[in-house]
Amino acid sequence: MRLALITTLIALGAACTGGEAPAPAPAPAPVVETPAAPPEPPIPAAQLALFTPIKAGTVAPTDKGLVDLGRTLYYDTRLSADRDLSCNSCHLLDKYGVDGTPTSTGHKGQKGGRNAPTVYNAFGHIAQFWDGRAANLVDQAKGPVLNPIEMAMPSDKALVDLLTTIPGYQSAFARAFPAEPEPISYDNVARAIAAFEEHLATPSRFDEYLNGKFSALTEDERKGLDTFISTGCVACHTGAFVGGGMYQKIGLVEPYPTKDKGRSVVTKNKADDFFFKVPSLRNIAETAPYFHDGSVPTLEDAVRLMGKHQLGKQLDDATVGSIVTFLKSLTGTIDQAYISQPVLPVDGPNTPKP
Ligand code: HEC
Ligand code: HEC
Repeated sequence: MRLALITTLIALGAACTGGEAPAPAPAPAPVVETPAAPPEPPIPAAQLALFTPIKAGTVAPTDKGLVDLGRTLYYDTRLSADRDLSCNSCHLLDKYGVDGTPTSTGHKGQKGGRNAPTVYNAFGHIAQFWDGRAANLVDQAKGPVLNPIEMAMPSDKALVDLLTTIPGYQSAFARAFPAEPEPISYDNVARAIAAFEEHLATPSRFDEYLNGKFSALTEDERKGLDTFISTGCVACHTGAFVGGGMYQKIGLVEPYPTKDKGRSVVTKNKADDFFFKVPSLRNIAETAPYFHDGSVPTLEDAVRLMGKHQLGKQLDDATVGSIVTFLKSLTGTIDQAYISQPVLPVDGPNTPKP
């Protein structure tokens, strides 16, 4: 930087002192070595064994028609019985995919029993929902539309019939599913929404760090990462999503007060009582309140409770603060263009009103 400036000044000076005499042949420009950036220290191998950068889902969507349709459906409140709720009502894409409340408000003001997890990076989890009852995003997307306390559509057929009355959807489904004689189906609604969600990835400075740029994390964040590892959080929160890869019991060491039995309701196996999917900690500083019951408003308290219930450790304020400093580096970038709300196709003459 400074060298370049000096070179420019010298060049300017030369130009000014030229005078009237015929200019001598210009001296060859001095070769200026751009100073090499100081070498980045290597990322510790032990850390690279625990975490990987976000990859899947960050590739540009190849099937634009399908993804565009999914985005439109994601924002369309006509997927709900009273035409007042869309996926975005509970998973606000400009709010890191959550609604910021302990439990969401669904059809006719009803409350569910669990906190709405973020849709960002969900494509990378072993399964969907806190209890993993949907194997993947396609299966998941079929749930909320028919759930009587969420979007409360009376049946899958009612939704297909409604979408069929909207001319813009007829053409959009035909474009997204060109090989199919009846492109508007409940399965295809779910496929399109899932295709859109596949690209809701939020890489952060942590990914730059894992990719070799040591200086992408501050010294305090690197210390926090060490604390996160040495405290034992990585027994469960590892991988590209710093979680999302396994089920574990909430209250493994010290029981956690909850009536929700979690995974055992799905597997019918008592051994799975109080097991939940270990949540991803990507964007965790932005997705309060915490835990399946949404009962914990601050990240500091969530970390402290994890120490107590999962590890049997009383974490002091400095340790909690250090871990939180690291966790904040997991806040990623939202692709604003990708999530921008499309113009929804207008009702046809026969589209039913609520
Ligand atoms: C009324 C609020 C509400 C609406 C509307 C809603 N969801 Fe959800 N969503 C939730 C709640 C609550 C959960 C967690 C439920 C559970 O785990 O039992 C959830 C879970 C999910 C998950 C699982 C994420 C994970 O980490 O396991 C995904 C993905 C998702 N929703 C996508 C959608 C899509 C797509 C739509 C629209 C078709 C939608 N949601 C509509 C409240 C809502
Ligand atoms: C034995 C496995 C295990 C260990 C160890 C563990 N966690 Fe967790 N963590 C979980 C599970 C399971 C949940 C979901 C609990 C629930 O909501 O029922 C969770 C939830 C969280 C949440 C809330 C996520 C959300 O979206 O609401 C945070 C934050 C968190 N853990 C951080 C940590 C930190 C920091 C440590 C280390 C001090 C840690 N965890 C150690 C299993 C573990």
